[in-house]
Amino acid sequence: MSMVEIRNLRRTFDVSKPWLNRALERLPKQVLTAVSDVSFDIEAQTVYALVGESGSGKSTIGKILVGLLPPSSGTVRVEDIDLATEADAAVRAELRSNIQMIFQDPFASLNPRWRVRDIIVEPVRARGGDTDGLAEKLLEQVGLSALDAVKFPHQFSGGQRQRICVARALASEPRLIVCDEPTSALDVSVQAQVLNLMSDLKENFGLTYLFISHDLTVVRHMADRIGVLYLGQLVEEADPEALFNAPAHPYTQMLLDAAPALDRFGRDEDPPQGEIPDPINPPTGCPFNPRCALATDLCRIERPEMRSFGTGRVACHHAEQAQAT
Ligand SMILES: Nc1ncnc2c1ncn2[C@@H]1O[C@H](COP(=O)(O)OP(=O)(O)O)[C@@H](O)[C@H]1O
Ligand SMILES: [Mg+2]
Repeated sequence: MSMVEIRNLRRTFDVSKPWLNRALERLPKQVLTAVSDVSFDIEAQTVYALVGESGSGKSTIGKILVGLLPPSSGTVRVEDIDLATEADAAVRAELRSNIQMIFQDPFASLNPRWRVRDIIVEPVRARGGDTDGLAEKLLEQVGLSALDAVKFPHQFSGGQRQRICVARALASEPRLIVCDEPTSALDVSVQAQVLNLMSDLKENFGLTYLFISHDLTVVRHMADRIGVLYLGQLVEEADPEALFNAPAHPYTQMLLDAAPALDRFGRDEDPPQGEIPDPINPPTGCPFNPRCALATDLCRIERPEMRSFGTGRVACHHAEQAQAT
């Protein structure tokens, strides 16, 4: 059994105008599909990276996994428990505290009026746990000083604040941490430090991560498995080596071409070709077909199933051809 099993996950949002406007202007209901039929597993004590452009559904999947958002359909099981259907409140509460989330913006996610100590221990205090010396110990574990416990968030830099967020997540002794672009708001030099910290903590505490990023290069060295998301659909999944050396999906290939390569530093790169289509009116067939050089009539009609491909999986009618080019 994998630690996390996500099956046929789907999440839609009603983005219609208010009822009265709709009635007056004779507009139909509008439904946006943020996540469409996504299935993947996360093995215990591994890092699963979910990568895709802005709006591809990454945060929605993360929020569903931690129980902040219910799925529209499909199932999410963590340690064989489904938060959405588990009837026993004590089991749900236990699982919730085993899953923590770290958000992109370390400025918005810390209460400015609270001292760092109270921010870190709050989740434990709320459950009546022992908080004696906890904040000080955790601050040192994330590379800050025990003396920082009495300070307020505004006294820290962005990187230090994200360390405080990590300490708060660790306070509940979680087994699974969902990291939603945890370093995207930080300077490049600080990003690497926070990523290294997260890698070290994973080893020391035996953690499992769902690591969300819009940047393939950020997750390359950290991930055990990478899932590529496009318009709410998983289009490819592979180990980092396989994905970077022989990407099978034309979209993954485009993402890699767009990633700034070290040896081409300083030169302008071509941005990804074309726009992401409207998720309210997604293309029929393969979601990537309007941007894909290999698209055929089949791609415009039939959505490709996710299938085994090499050591990974791919959802592309022409993956063999794509990988050969
Ligand atoms: N609460 C919401 N109401 C309406 N639309 C939403 C909501 N949350 C997300 N969406 C839409 O769902 C899609 C996926 O969003 P999100 O999961 O935040 O993507 P990502 O994290 O990859 O940028 C986007 O088109 C976004 O506009
Ligand atoms: Mg997001």
